Amino acid sequence: RKEAVALFGSLAGKNVLDVACGTGDLAIAIVKAGDDTTTVTGADFSKEMLKIGTEKIKKNNLGNRVTLEEGDALNLKYDDSSFDCVSCAFGVRNFADLDIGLKEMSRVLKKGGTMVVLEFTAPKNRLVGLLYRFYFTRLLPIIGGVVSGKKSAYTYLPDSVYKFPSPPEFKKRMESVGLSDVSFIPLTLGICGIHTGVKT
Ligand SMILES: C[S@@+](CC[C@H](N)C(=O)[O-])C[C@H]1O[C@@H](n2cnc3c(N)ncnc32)[C@H](O)[C@@H]1O
Repeated sequence: RKEAVALFGSLAGKNVLDVACGTGDLAIAIVKAGDDTTTVTGADFSKEMLKIGTEKIKKNNLGNRVTLEEGDALNLKYDDSSFDCVSCAFGVRNFADLDIGLKEMSRVLKKGGTMVVLEFTAPKNRLVGLLYRFYFTRLLPIIGGVVSGKKSAYTYLPDSVYKFPSPPEFKKRMESVGLSDVSFIPLTLGICGIHTGVKT
């Protein structure tokens, strides 16, 4: 998340939208990286996540600069070109329609504004890929199932990662919604990475 935030550059005076904000970790990291003039709106459709996030924000005394609110990424309630930056961490993979979600995120971004998407990826390195696949598809569902009693949640995660577009495919999807200078930075041995683009 730290690396994703750094990609926004100076956050002074910036108004940022964090889509699928969950409990607000990225929204908090963004506002902390900025100054008194940085504001963040986090949107998520899970009331439970927002409740936990709002408590966290209160504890951090950031209530005047971070607002978390209910919203569907596929139908954002904000006007066109209303944010200087748009982010989404580990959210786009779960969108019911990836292209509609990306289109919405691009629509609310100002021309010249930056979009940053943090997401899991299937590692390219063969050895890391094999170990990752073994852990993710064999070990994790067993351990997660025993600990939580919900094995399906731990089979959904690897399934969704392997079905998600590869970085070159995702680049095309970002370009198709009006973003340019699209690039991908792999992180953590390539098991996740940051996609960035600039609204044209
Ligand atoms: C894995 S969590 C990530 C949360 C947060 N961004 C983070 O990095 O911790 C995925 C979040 O995406 C949200 N989400 C998925 N689809 C969404 C949609 N269409 N609109 C709004 N939120 C969505 C879920 O409610 C969940 O909070």
